[in-house]
Amino acid sequence: MKFFIDTANLAQIKEAQDLGILDGVTTNPSLMAKEGISGDASVIAHYKTICDIVDDNVSAEVIATDFEGMVKEGEALAALNPKIVVKVPMIKEGIKAIKYFSGKGIRTNCTLIFSAGQALLAAKAGATYVSPFLGRLDDISTDGLQLIEDIRLIFDNYGYPTQILAASIRGPLHIVACAKLGADVITAPLAAITALLKHPLTDSGLATFLADHAKAAGK
Ligand code: G3P
Repeated sequence: MKFFIDTANLAQIKEAQDLGILDGVTTNPSLMAKEGISGDASVIAHYKTICDIVDDNVSAEVIATDFEGMVKEGEALAALNPKIVVKVPMIKEGIKAIKYFSGKGIRTNCTLIFSAGQALLAAKAGATYVSPFLGRLDDISTDGLQLIEDIRLIFDNYGYPTQILAASIRGPLHIVACAKLGADVITAPLAAITALLKHPLTDSGLATFLADHAKAAGK
């Protein structure tokens, strides 16, 4: 399973990259705004900086919602760096744009997926990734993990190469559940990823090992 970090914060991206387990980054306009990145030039510069930090898979979202605008923005984003994956919203014009990008060999991430039918359409159009937002479904008392399971079944039924990128992850248990269900990728905040490290028995066990080692060495 690939691990992406869901942030535009450079320090957090570097920390995850230094951990040696990072496969990519997902951003969106809200995450860019959170870092105070605004204006086309700053946004472009920020994407370039992120590409310099990580090995591949930097999702950069188009702002346009019409086909021509998405194609223009997406082609410009893809030209920035081969690591860029053009992130396109799940709307009618977005499906057309995904089909267009697919034909041009430009990788896409279809975002804001909340139903299996939406994921099926995006896969049919040739999306590289689909991003079901499981946390936001959980937030409205709908089972986000069930959606991951349904999409996995559909993609496997037909051998769609589109990868399931589980997004809107809220914590470490979401990550483990996605792994059990066969998601190809998770994108999560740094805190959810590093929470996977933690177990109190690991901490107490290590403390005992180190204390016993010191005692045996007469320290
Ligand atoms: O990047 C898209 C998605 O992961 C957003 O998550 O936490 O805003 O629901 P969230």
